[in-house]
Amino acid sequence: MVSPDTLLSASVPADLTVPVALGDRAYDILIGPGLLHRESPWQGLPRASDAVIVSNDTVAPLYADRLADRLSPHYRRVLRVVLPDGEAHKDWPALNSIFDALLGAGCDRKTVLFALGGGVIGDMTGFAAACYMRGVPFVQVPTTLLAQVDSSVGGKTAINHPLGKNMIGAFYQPVRVLCDLDTLATLPDRELSAGLAEVIKYGPIADPVFLEWLEAHMPHLRRRDMTALQQAVKRSCEIKAAVVAADEREGGLRAILNFGHTFGHAIEAGLGFGVWLHGEAVAAGMVMAAELSERLGLAATGFTARLVRLLDAAGLPVRGPASLTAQDYLRHMRVDKKAEGGDIRFVLIEGIGRAVVRPAPDGLVAECVRAHTAQG
Ligand code: NAD
Ligand code: GLY
Repeated sequence: MVSPDTLLSASVPADLTVPVALGDRAYDILIGPGLLHRESPWQGLPRASDAVIVSNDTVAPLYADRLADRLSPHYRRVLRVVLPDGEAHKDWPALNSIFDALLGAGCDRKTVLFALGGGVIGDMTGFAAACYMRGVPFVQVPTTLLAQVDSSVGGKTAINHPLGKNMIGAFYQPVRVLCDLDTLATLPDRELSAGLAEVIKYGPIADPVFLEWLEAHMPHLRRRDMTALQQAVKRSCEIKAAVVAADEREGGLRAILNFGHTFGHAIEAGLGFGVWLHGEAVAAGMVMAAELSERLGLAATGFTARLVRLLDAAGLPVRGPASLTAQDYLRHMRVDKKAEGGDIRFVLIEGIGRAVVRPAPDGLVAECVRAHTAQG
């Protein structure tokens, strides 16, 4: 007779581990289903009296009890800070409410913070961990695809300022990243697609074989096939981990992770943050950056069309919004954090799997925007 456990192990993929090689700040990314239901992924974390789960009012009701169950054998107290959901709350008042809770509960400098949520919670919790008593350990428990493949890895932490997104922050690495793929089951379709934009970006910048794999497996990913999701998260994390290990503080190479982001940030800023999701703006931005790569003679003819087909299959926009003109893009790009002295730098594809960072003439940039903007 086949035991139920055997059946389970035959259909459920085993956990995969991706190391992030950062010397004395090295850590592992664990990727698998059911991590919040099992003891072993939570062993060996820093010892302390207190663990504090930081989450929001959407994710906490879904997963905070399970996380608290996993942590309670290891910590004397497991406290919770539940913030309002949304990018609009990635700000000083929300950050301060984390400090209020920690200080109010008498948490000491060994307290371990657990970021349970998407990139907003991850970025804010990481920044709180970097600042509280000059630095306490934190663990990323990302629950969106975007956070599992991008924001939870690499130690960029930040809050927004009224004058700019992610303008106040620090590089501060987590001690572990635990990607429970089961949490993706409750993610809205639109958020899943937004995460797929960041997955897709890794193909053109680093891995032609992964790009082909994504083309073959996009239907599996959209129907949330567990094995396909695990492969996509793993390969994305491997690429991000390698880039971060080579250039933690974005002295050069790390900028390639921003493929499509220069155009994308202009869309987000131009429409008002939150109108399009970040991943949606990056998708249309990658199309424009691909077009620019082709027109500069870097990428082969047909690369943009290929990317458009894949992004479309992922349920993502492939054209910029009709309400923004090329001049709007250029204006927003000049004040982007990635501009240097007003000089806009673009991540361009020089053959699939190889990215370069270059300036480009305004006129050509404007042509690429117009070529891929929806008609009003
Ligand atoms: P998000 O954190 O706002 O999450 C998206 C939505 O999904 C939210 O409403 C959230 O409550 C909800 N949600 C999260 N997990 C869920 C689940 N399992 N089931 C149901 N709903 C769930 O957005 P995001 O796309 O995860 O992250 C975007 C943020 O990440 C931005 O602030 C961006 O600046 C940041 N970011 C940071 C980095 C980095 O390197 N640090 C990289 C990329 C993006
Ligand atoms: N998401 C871009 C980076 O981590 O550098």
